[in-house]
Amino acid sequence: MKITFAKPEFPAQGAIVVPVYEGKIWGPLAKALDEHVAGALSRAAAAGKFEGKKDQSIVILAPAGLAVDRVVLIGLGKPKDVDDLAAEAFGGKAISLVQTSGEEQLWLLVEPVTGVTLTDGQFAAHVAMGARLRSYRFDKYQTKQKKEDKPSLRKVVIATGNHTGAKATFAPMDKVADAVFLARDLVSEPANVIHPESYAAEIKKLEALGLKVEILGEKQMKKLGMGSLLGVGQGSDRESQLVIMRWNGGDKADEAPVAFVGKGVTFDSGGISLKPGAGMEDMKWDMAGSAAVVGALAALAGRKAKANVVGVVGLVENMPSGGAQRPGDVVTSMSGQTIEVINTDAEGRLVLADAIWYTQQEFKPKLMVDLATLTGAIIVALGTEYAGLFSNDDKLSNKLTEAGKKAGEPIWRMPMGDAYDQLIKSDIADMKNTGGRDGGSISAAHFIKRFVKDTPWAHLDIAGLAWFKKDGPVTPKGASAFGVRLLDRLIADYYEG
Ligand code: BES
Ligand code: MN
Ligand code: ZN
Repeated sequence: MKITFAKPEFPAQGAIVVPVYEGKIWGPLAKALDEHVAGALSRAAAAGKFEGKKDQSIVILAPAGLAVDRVVLIGLGKPKDVDDLAAEAFGGKAISLVQTSGEEQLWLLVEPVTGVTLTDGQFAAHVAMGARLRSYRFDKYQTKQKKEDKPSLRKVVIATGNHTGAKATFAPMDKVADAVFLARDLVSEPANVIHPESYAAEIKKLEALGLKVEILGEKQMKKLGMGSLLGVGQGSDRESQLVIMRWNGGDKADEAPVAFVGKGVTFDSGGISLKPGAGMEDMKWDMAGSAAVVGALAALAGRKAKANVVGVVGLVENMPSGGAQRPGDVVTSMSGQTIEVINTDAEGRLVLADAIWYTQQEFKPKLMVDLATLTGAIIVALGTEYAGLFSNDDKLSNKLTEAGKKAGEPIWRMPMGDAYDQLIKSDIADMKNTGGRDGGSISAAHFIKRFVKDTPWAHLDIAGLAWFKKDGPVTPKGASAFGVRLLDRLIADYYEG
């Protein structure tokens, strides 16, 4: 699907999407189109109880007097509430209604009315972004898809008063969309295709974008003393990997980088503490935190961000076998701290412990954000609306919260404190890897915190947002790539230039 920008006109074929604002507010183009068809659009709107409320839509087929096959009215809500995300939702809605309709071409009229604060160019660029993000499909393994289920749409034209401005604004956003698609692909791939070794090889390919990629195998990690990470992968036939990505776009090459760290468990069976069978297939996406980090680095490199950023992902497969780690085992992490492994299914934190320690030792980052599908408990607490945020730094928390809001990837800060830290006391080692059911996400965050020195740090538990069970405004159901846009936005708004 190709997206282009052009001056508004009424196309001679395909579909046309017309925005309508809440309270039946129609822009001049919409009005002109309605007049051209002798009021058929406003009549259809009235008959369909369509008032231009956000997310409302109505499809009018074969309108007499027009060459196009269909006119789609989409509600944008109140003009004053139309922001970046509303513009994206509008573009996304258009795609959801037209992508498999049989139409090959779609014109989207972008027409701000009085009260809309977005400029024409921004508005149009965000509509394009929403359209692109919503068009994502992962159907490479569907060999018997019926023609009517396949996308028919080839060409999307965003019609705007400022098409050159929109095109320029969209160019870097398009790179971010590429990165979102990359992350969604990685998360969607089954675990027989994406395992630690193949995953590392995929990341290596990103050197084409100008990233530096280094891969450490088990031998090197053993030398570094990463007993915590290695213990998790010990039961797998695949070799665990630590992959380091560097983007040095900052003005000063020696300026301390921002660091992103990701949990990349390519399949989480639970290990010897085996998970129940029902739903276990979901655990192919237990590497979504790492995919967000890979995607963020790809986005930054793609749009040539002026910042120094490092991404570190721990890639392991958590499997039961004769060689697997057992409950009760004690492992020694790279930090020197020992861990009693009470439950082999609390493996993500064991991976992060060494990845985080390594990141601090190696790069002395100015701040560090880790992302992980860490606990089922965060889904109990926050559902699938917000990811959990845990941090030792108020400023960083506020920046992340703000970036999440703007990017449409919301996060909510959770409490931390000594009483929670007590939950992971061990009788035999420096700590144990589970703190019990109550406050499970918080004790998990405290476990990670024990490997953070005095670096400003934040941990995002994204277990509830990595995989959508139903379509979202700009995310078809399935892998969301949650975190890519948030991290990109954090850099864009606070650490560039
Ligand atoms: N990968 C899971 C967490 C998870 C659950 C992610 C559901 C996405 C959806 C994690 O490794 C895990 O198994 N956590 C355990 C921790 C427990 C054993 C302390 C959990 O949440 O039950
Ligand atoms: Mn687990
Ligand atoms: Zn896991």
